Amino acid sequence: MLVVIDHPLVQVKLGLLRDQSTAVPDFRRALRETAALMFFQATADLPTVEAVVQTPLAACPARRLQRHVVLAPILRAGLGLLEGLFELVPDAQVAHLGFYRDEHTLKPVRYYAKVPPGIADAAVILLDPMLATGHSAAAAVSALKVSGAQHIRFLCLVSCPEGIAHFHATHPDVPVFTAAVDEKLNERGYIVPGLGDAGDRFFGT
Ligand code: URA
Repeated sequence: MLVVIDHPLVQVKLGLLRDQSTAVPDFRRALRETAALMFFQATADLPTVEAVVQTPLAACPARRLQRHVVLAPILRAGLGLLEGLFELVPDAQVAHLGFYRDEHTLKPVRYYAKVPPGIADAAVILLDPMLATGHSAAAAVSALKVSGAQHIRFLCLVSCPEGIAHFHATHPDVPVFTAAVDEKLNERGYIVPGLGDAGDRFFGT
């Protein structure tokens, strides 16, 4: 399943993120805000359970999330999305996943994985601003599944047809939420028009 989040606020902030003249502080802020807006929509169907709270006046029905939330940023650009989400789910656990691309095989190689215990019951949100070739994202989901994760969704800001095709072919069970499906990947693996290197722009490198 592919969901394109077409909310006007998301699209306006995406334009800011794409603009090469957007300075690092504004880029950071827009990425945080866009992540939160997209997360809101991408979690709209999370299951809840009935609860009861006591207001100052009476007992009142309430709801709480059935599953705890695990945010899984792919290093390093995924960290840019992570920050904005702590505001919404301050008790979320974090699974860090790091990959580099092998020069010879061009395949992603995992160099870091720290996954919280109990991930099997969690609602896991994989985070990466860019779905480019789709190889890292697919490998990240495989790693999460090996760790026991069963309820995974993927939040990415900008995607492209090549990445979506690879990701869906590898993990057809994992829904993808994106703000844009861009035209293509270029020969250097960048999304066009995209926004450039999301990690460089977020970290000012
Ligand atoms: N990663 C990025 O940061 N940008 C792209 O365009 C592709 C991959």
